Amino acid sequence: MQVAIIGSGYVGLVSGACFADFGHVVCCVDKDPEKIARLRAGEMPIYEPGLAELVANNVRAGRLSFATELSDAVRRADAVFIAVGTPSRRGDGFADLSFVHQAAREIAAELDGYTVVVTKSTVPVGTGDEVERIIAETAPRAQFAVISNPEFLREGAAIADFKRPDRIVIGTEEERAKAVMTEIYRPLYLNQAPLLFTSRRTAELTKYAANAFLATKITFINEIADLCEKVGANVQEVARGMGLDNRIGSKFLHAGPGYGGSCFPKDTIALIKTAQDYDAPIRIVETVAAVNDQRKRAMARKVIQACGGSVRGKTIAVLGLTFKPNTDDMREAPSLSIIAALQDGGATVRAYDPEGMEAAKRMLEGVAYASDPYACADGADALVIVTEWDAFRALDFERVKRVMNAPVLVDLRNIYRPELLRKLGFRYTSVGQPVSAAEPESAEVLGPINRTRPTAASAA
Ligand SMILES: NC(=O)c1ccc[n+]([C@@H]2O[C@H](COP(=O)([O-])OP(=O)(O)OC[C@H]3O[C@@H](n4cnc5c(N)ncnc54)[C@H](O)[C@@H]3O)[C@@H](O)[C@H]2O)c1
Repeated sequence: MQVAIIGSGYVGLVSGACFADFGHVVCCVDKDPEKIARLRAGEMPIYEPGLAELVANNVRAGRLSFATELSDAVRRADAVFIAVGTPSRRGDGFADLSFVHQAAREIAAELDGYTVVVTKSTVPVGTGDEVERIIAETAPRAQFAVISNPEFLREGAAIADFKRPDRIVIGTEEERAKAVMTEIYRPLYLNQAPLLFTSRRTAELTKYAANAFLATKITFINEIADLCEKVGANVQEVARGMGLDNRIGSKFLHAGPGYGGSCFPKDTIALIKTAQDYDAPIRIVETVAAVNDQRKRAMARKVIQACGGSVRGKTIAVLGLTFKPNTDDMREAPSLSIIAALQDGGATVRAYDPEGMEAAKRMLEGVAYASDPYACADGADALVIVTEWDAFRALDFERVKRVMNAPVLVDLRNIYRPELLRKLGFRYTSVGQPVSAAEPESAEVLGPINRTRPTAASAA
């Protein structure tokens, strides 16, 4: 099959490379000339594990190419995938569909023969109708079908998710379009990945419902974590006790600093707006979005409390900036709000992230960047783990303690065992674990560098 992908970002590039790997001939188009120049030079514009090799192999095999103009790719395509961004619209938070509509106009002008136009971008219900209208208006004689095929991949595990999806949702009632999509996804279908054919509107809504549900699950366990801290329970054990129930499942039950990223924040808000517009408000998602919004600054207050009630004049070392590990994506990362709140409180912030610092530099002001976790911790009054990169899971805490000004560790991802850190002399604060576990065993184990002995208030 001949495939054109319009928009070569996190979704477009991964989808294009994977389709090429299935054996299709794919052209990834992007209007950003720098992105295309880098791709043509064999350089990845984003960090995604395994992507560079996958792209290189398929370029070498002659199945994957890149272009800034869509004309040639669209003319020969059996299917054109729209994978452009759908960010929150300034003002009301509804999905900004201007990129999708523009792509539809550009595609329409080049259609040649029967073509399936596939919306892979996450778009509000009814967008397919509008894309169809735009194409029909721009190219009245074009033979085409507009279908919805939302993408469920996760950054950081995008290739595995694309190649081994839980399901592939295809929203169309046209038999000819179904046949094209079945052929495109045939390798996955043979691997038993269920192809779920639905109406276009159902497919569009399925994506938002899935994301809103996952965001709800995260927010639910975050609120349970807050309660755990108050009543002396342990959220990790509660989550395990819940997650072993097959009806619930263990995924997305990790308490932390709140969800971020390029999807959940914008998609929950867009769903809320759609539901309100159709006079069927989804109150539960409205609450989830509001609770999550407040949580990020609440995490900064947790850090301030761990520092004895004030961070003025103190240096806070932040490990992890991206919204999750194994990506360089900084969009809506909790670190952005947490760092801003710490700076508001008078702290100097130094940060380290394995892949996200370039993007962070464009979004954060007044932050110093370190070359590794130990340089980040050097002289700091507190070390805060914001993103659970593997590189932070086995730190040499003797070394960390030696270089820090005070042995204060705030672990917003619960990646360490409180007993272990206490034994090493740290004042350890985590999320949703009994506060008593956050206190050191005795003053002695804090060692000589404990220049800021915890007061009752700071340990609370
Ligand atoms: N990132 C994810 O994890 C993820 C997962 C599932 C779904 N989605 C959805 O997929 C869509 C794309 O997300 P993303 O993260 O890949 O976005 P992105 O910002 O990384 O990439 C979008 C790309 O589209 C390009 N573009 C915009 N208009 C264009 C046009 N007319 N012609 C050619 N190129 C154009 C931009 O230059 C950009 O490179 C969004 O709707 C998003 O909600 C994202």
